[in-house]
Amino acid sequence: MSFIQLRYITYMYPFVKTLMIKKCLFPAAGYGTRFLPVTKAIPKEMLSMVNKPLIQYGVEEAFDAGLSEISIVTGRGKHALEDHFDISYELENQIKGTDQEKYLTGIRKLLNKCSFSYIRQTQIKGLGHAILTGRPLIGNELFAVVLTDDLCVNVTGEGVLTQMVNLYQKYRCTIVAIQEVNPQEINKYGIIAGDYISDGLIRVRHMAEKPALEDAPSNLAIIGRYILTPDIFKLIEETKPDKSGEIQITDALLRQAKNGCVIAYKFKGRRFDCGGAEGYIEAINFCYKYFYKANQAY
Ligand code: G1P
Repeated sequence: MSFIQLRYITYMYPFVKTLMIKKCLFPAAGYGTRFLPVTKAIPKEMLSMVNKPLIQYGVEEAFDAGLSEISIVTGRGKHALEDHFDISYELENQIKGTDQEKYLTGIRKLLNKCSFSYIRQTQIKGLGHAILTGRPLIGNELFAVVLTDDLCVNVTGEGVLTQMVNLYQKYRCTIVAIQEVNPQEINKYGIIAGDYISDGLIRVRHMAEKPALEDAPSNLAIIGRYILTPDIFKLIEETKPDKSGEIQITDALLRQAKNGCVIAYKFKGRRFDCGGAEGYIEAINFCYKYFYKANQAY
């Protein structure tokens, strides 16, 4: 490398850095009350999607999007997450050289290529609070957030996070994934409204967390995929808890949106709400058909 090339790289580094997304945060401290009693001793993120736990799908989606620094916000009773993303020497030793080794191909790849770090959330005080808890792991960097409950798949093309990373390169601002929901579901989500930039792409002007149907600005719901610029941390810090004492990411995002810096994206693919029985069963059938049976993907 010549001196001039080196000077150029050094000069460009700060600009290139702002375009690179390496980190992905998984808020995973929640109790999973909708799935009690199974979630008493098993983290909801570890519920089985045929042969893989739910969170592994999220980590694979992040890795496919080029995000290899995985940060997980955990809580009490969540040791299984750390054990899953670690090498089990006994198991490795037991199955070494046997046909069963193939079952570990996928998880071994993640362990080789990704780093995993953890921080404990000691109080459960809303998604905004969970994201702020992850700040020491993220630092002053651009990052993605994956909510494991929302399983997102796109069997015919790029994963949802990959689509969002590509959009970030173009718009350089916070991106949230959205989808249309039925009127009776509006009060379960953060709902957005704004100006269409193009088909499926909206510059967000308004947002409301779990509004009543009559107060909802639209039927466009935020689902569990975000790319966040690091100024979000300060905005969360300044966000007051809502009526139920939770700090909502939606309230912090609304302040970003007022500066024109939030884009909502109708992603290509399907999303399953695995936080409830119906979505979970649908997802497991889908994963069985398209991943497990079709490719015997491990
Ligand atoms: C969270 C967010 C909400 C978003 C939803 C997506 O809600 O607060 O804005 O629409 O995730 O799944 P939760 O499901 O944690 O109540």
